[in-house]
Amino acid sequence: MNPLVIHVTGARPNFPKAAPVLAALESRGVEQLLVHTGQHYDERMSEVFFRQLGIPTPDVNLGVGSGTHAKQTAAIMVAMEDLLTEHKPAMVVVYGDVNSTVGAALVAAKLGIPIAHVEAGLRSFDLTMPEEINRIVTDRLADLLLATSPDAIAHLGNEGVHPDKIHLVGNPMIDTLLANLDRFDADAARASFGLEGPYLVGTLHRPGNVDNDDDVRRLVTALHQAAGLAPIVVPLHPRGRPRLEAAGILDHPSIRLEEPLGYLEFMGLVRGAAAVVTDSGGVQEETTILGVPCLTLRPNTERPVTITHGTNELVTTDTLAGKVEQILATGPLTEWPTPPLWDGKAGQRIADVIAGSLPG
Ligand code: UD1
Ligand code: UDP
Repeated sequence: MNPLVIHVTGARPNFPKAAPVLAALESRGVEQLLVHTGQHYDERMSEVFFRQLGIPTPDVNLGVGSGTHAKQTAAIMVAMEDLLTEHKPAMVVVYGDVNSTVGAALVAAKLGIPIAHVEAGLRSFDLTMPEEINRIVTDRLADLLLATSPDAIAHLGNEGVHPDKIHLVGNPMIDTLLANLDRFDADAARASFGLEGPYLVGTLHRPGNVDNDDDVRRLVTALHQAAGLAPIVVPLHPRGRPRLEAAGILDHPSIRLEEPLGYLEFMGLVRGAAAVVTDSGGVQEETTILGVPCLTLRPNTERPVTITHGTNELVTTDTLAGKVEQILATGPLTEWPTPPLWDGKAGQRIADVIAGSLPG
């Protein structure tokens, strides 16, 4: 029997990362099973990515849904234990830093199944972020640590991970971006949102920005200041919508709230933007390649390469409007650096490492 590889996905950022890995392993004839935990379940948070990116329909959906961290992670673990016990895979591949990642990794480790972690080694050094806890635990348990950037290699080395386990493979999210670049239509985005002249895009969903009323009030004031300079389209993650609406985000004529957008519509909008205001991990990376200035509303980032080799900059609610003003005065970038190995071939490198470590 061929060794089986089980991929575990569940939340929006997992899907564009998994797409090129699934395709590259498929082309090598590796037997695969795709699991969706059901952490994200709205059509716009999940299915649209599968449809637009041609990702195979998951073989299994665990249907765990939303809940507190403990409830959600526990539901993932219970269902994953049954699934892994039944299928006995040779390897489990987990992506990024969401609860589905750490839940699956904990179960696989206790069943003695090797784990490959795609996007290993990123660190914000901020344990108030649930994702930082998920990253550290997942990396501690993983057997193959597949890193997107050199800083990640250094962090894993400092944590005592044996160098033989660590592989600098590049960024599979950027594989997906480059493979679909021709489909990102900025003109269509302008037309569909009725935008003329420079505009901004905002995405905000981190607990540190949207879970507390005082933070949300400050955020809304900062967005209103920025909207005084250029219209902002905000495709809003469901997490923050009630608080942002209650804090009056819509009380400015130049702010437009949208439901989460499909990947292609979102990337088309971002491609044509004068700047993006975000707290998303993926968006920091995507703007780096598209050359769109990225203003990250966070005190830190686990993706410093997007600052040193990209267009990203950390801002606060106090500095946001000033930065937007500067960017609008400067106009679009004509050149910008890009990180090493963000070249569209990460999925192939990841597949080489995984296939090379499967039992013969
Ligand atoms: C999760 C990840 C975060 C990632 C984000 C990407 C963890 C700990 N967090 O955060 O790292 O940046 O996904 O989008 O895994 N909801 C819906 N519909 C859905 C999914 C969620 O309405 O399809 C709402 C529910 O009210 C839910 C809330 O969003 O309680 C939060 O969802 P959850 O998956 O717990 O965390 P995210 O904030 O999405
Ligand atoms: N995205 C999208 N539509 C949206 C917002 C985001 O298609 O309305 C995509 C985008 O490619 C982004 C990815 O979803 O990189 C993951 O986004 P999110 O910010 O939810 O997760 P994070 O990267 O912060 O974990």
